Amino acid sequence: MEISYADYLQSAIDVAKDIGPTILKNYNSRERKIEYKGAIDLVTDTDKAVEEHIIKTLTGKYPHTKILGEESTKDGIYNWGNEPTWIIDPIDGTTNFVHRFPLFCVSIALSINKEIVAAVVFCPVLNELFTATKGGGAFLNGEQIFVSSVDTLSNAMVATNVGYDRTKAGIDHMLGNLDNILNQNVQAIRFSGTAAWEMASVSCGRLDCFYEWGIHPWDIAASTLLIREAGGVVVDPSGSDVNMEGRRVLCGGKPIVDLLSKLLLPKPSSN
Ligand code: IPD
Repeated sequence: MEISYADYLQSAIDVAKDIGPTILKNYNSRERKIEYKGAIDLVTDTDKAVEEHIIKTLTGKYPHTKILGEESTKDGIYNWGNEPTWIIDPIDGTTNFVHRFPLFCVSIALSINKEIVAAVVFCPVLNELFTATKGGGAFLNGEQIFVSSVDTLSNAMVATNVGYDRTKAGIDHMLGNLDNILNQNVQAIRFSGTAAWEMASVSCGRLDCFYEWGIHPWDIAASTLLIREAGGVVVDPSGSDVNMEGRRVLCGGKPIVDLLSKLLLPKPSSN
């Protein structure tokens, strides 16, 4: 029996909503185990348990599917192929989760031939469920959503994150981009610390665009489909085609993305 994109989507919605109460309980609890993946890059026992639960549920139901998951990827090697693959970030915004800053989300995408065909971004604190299937539109809690049509920076709310690169070159690059955008009289810049939710927010038009260097496929996979299905574009910050494994992204409505791609500076290293 053929499995439709809608079937896959429903399974991803079910598992994201099912794990929501556990995430919230752990968010409100004082007892959690924090480990360091890098000097400032955190992972908690909740990230690991949530990813395990999602993997067990989805591969239990669809044994032919593979996994590309933030906490189960070893040595930074993505190992992402053409087979149907669940791309999972159990908690995007782990640092927010640890600090009890309420913006973080579960992000689940399904790729087939490395193309995203179903997507869920679920923010348990805000109870926001973003969903999309390829060709089927994008939705927030069941209402169809669209990217904004803003075409000038003086009308735009731009989002980005400072990421984890604390090298001099990395900081200079980040500040150089902010300088360029501020000098164009941008209306607002936001740093929310959860790329998946920020991109989901672009898909429903409350943010006009988002860019970041240093992201991974699991941070952006689901939201990439949300934005495309909401009428927006997801590209490399230079304006060329996005490479989902290239660790950088720019997205939004086409006019503002075209404008920003001319302002953003290339970065010498990839992280
Ligand atoms: C991180 C968040 C953060 C972004 C980082 C991501 P994680 O994901 O999306 O906003 O700046 O680049 O790695 O580690 O919390 O899942």
